[in-house]
Amino acid sequence: MCEYQITGGRPLAGQLTVQGAKNSVLPILAATVLADGESEICNCPDLSDVTATLEILRLLGCKVQREGGTVRVDTSALECSHIPQQLMGELRSSVVFLGALLARCGSAQLAYPGGCELGPRPIDLHLMALRTLGADVREMRGGLYCRNKGTMRGRELCLPMPSVGATENAMLAACGCPGVTTIVGAAREPEIEDLQNFLRAMGAQVEGAGTSTIRIEGGHPLHPARYTVMGDRMAAATYLCAVGAAGGCVQLHGVDPGHLTGFLSVLEEAGADLHTGQNSISMACTTPFNGVRPVRTAPYPGFPTDAQAPLMAALCCGTGTTMFVENMFSSRYRHVDELMRMGADIQVDGRVAVVTGRPLQGARVRGTDLRGSAALVVAALGARGESRVSGVRHILRGYENLDGDLRSLGASIQYI
Ligand code: EPU
Repeated sequence: MCEYQITGGRPLAGQLTVQGAKNSVLPILAATVLADGESEICNCPDLSDVTATLEILRLLGCKVQREGGTVRVDTSALECSHIPQQLMGELRSSVVFLGALLARCGSAQLAYPGGCELGPRPIDLHLMALRTLGADVREMRGGLYCRNKGTMRGRELCLPMPSVGATENAMLAACGCPGVTTIVGAAREPEIEDLQNFLRAMGAQVEGAGTSTIRIEGGHPLHPARYTVMGDRMAAATYLCAVGAAGGCVQLHGVDPGHLTGFLSVLEEAGADLHTGQNSISMACTTPFNGVRPVRTAPYPGFPTDAQAPLMAALCCGTGTTMFVENMFSSRYRHVDELMRMGADIQVDGRVAVVTGRPLQGARVRGTDLRGSAALVVAALGARGESRVSGVRHILRGYENLDGDLRSLGASIQYI
């Protein structure tokens, strides 16, 4: 079993360039199938979720080459629109291949997607969006069978909840539908804007991403494109929480502070000294974090659910009390019991968790999802003594080099 061995209590200092955004690159890689030919994706992070997505592309018949942070996907020989269970089960975002394959091939056959265990993760809104565009969607024998029987065309579709994945799926499918699609109630996350920018680079007529109404004029042939993925705001948030837990002074490059406005104001309230540049964030923390006003997770631009666990870990090492309300996923407190093994004071009641900061002690803890495992690393950096954090495979899904990056800032963390 792989673990991180961490000795806490060392302040962090130095500079880092943040990896490319996981939640942008996954739909962007799926979007490469919309055009015939070779697209080049730069700043592509080396993550197990990316590896699984590249495997899916290969299985579909694409030629995929990876050199450092650059991935080339040649879709000229795309010949298949069927993705089996084994690959679909690896990651949740595999579901966006539905929209992309429908647009390119007119059919898609997929098993149900996997991903982190955060409670039930239905895909009803994805299917509703595709059906509204006119796709014939059948759910049979544990699989999804989607076809364009010549009935798909641009229409208005209203999402009752701003689902990130359903918005992306609808955008990709709409690129293949003649006429105008308007997505009302769209998710506004920066990753959706990144996808829009890639689609535009391919020649698609898309506008409105970043607002709750996206307009796509579809049915035009698209061409391959070269695109650089934006920086990962959640990796940046995790490193800032690590500074909050361990103390120190760190500068992050390659991340847009405008993507983290709500999160950064919570860090400031907790006592961090922050300075932002056009594409950089500096943070100094000389005293332990204070408790802050209630943190309620919400769709963008609200407080991001993906930053809930790392922030909770940092506040556990501080002083004062903070209430968290997790509104996005029903089972996103699985890190709490593990934090308590390190001595954290946390009371959970349904969606609410109340955290009172106090010194933590290193312990053996087990991560069970991506951000929860990262949170345990954050807590271990702030705890006295040695910790062993297992669940590293979850971390490798979303962080390119968490231990190496933290070591470069002076942390004592070894991968064993
Ligand atoms: N939902 C439905 N039906 C649907 C789709 C979503 O009820 O058809 C519900 C979900 O159950 C959830 C809420 O809507 O309660 C939000 O889900 P959303 O679809 O927005 O999330 P997602 O697309 O599955 C992406 C990120 C997550 C991130 C969420 C929320 C990717 C690959 N994943 O997931 O990232 O937490 O948006 O911001 O983009 C992570 O990076 O650790 C991670 C889990």
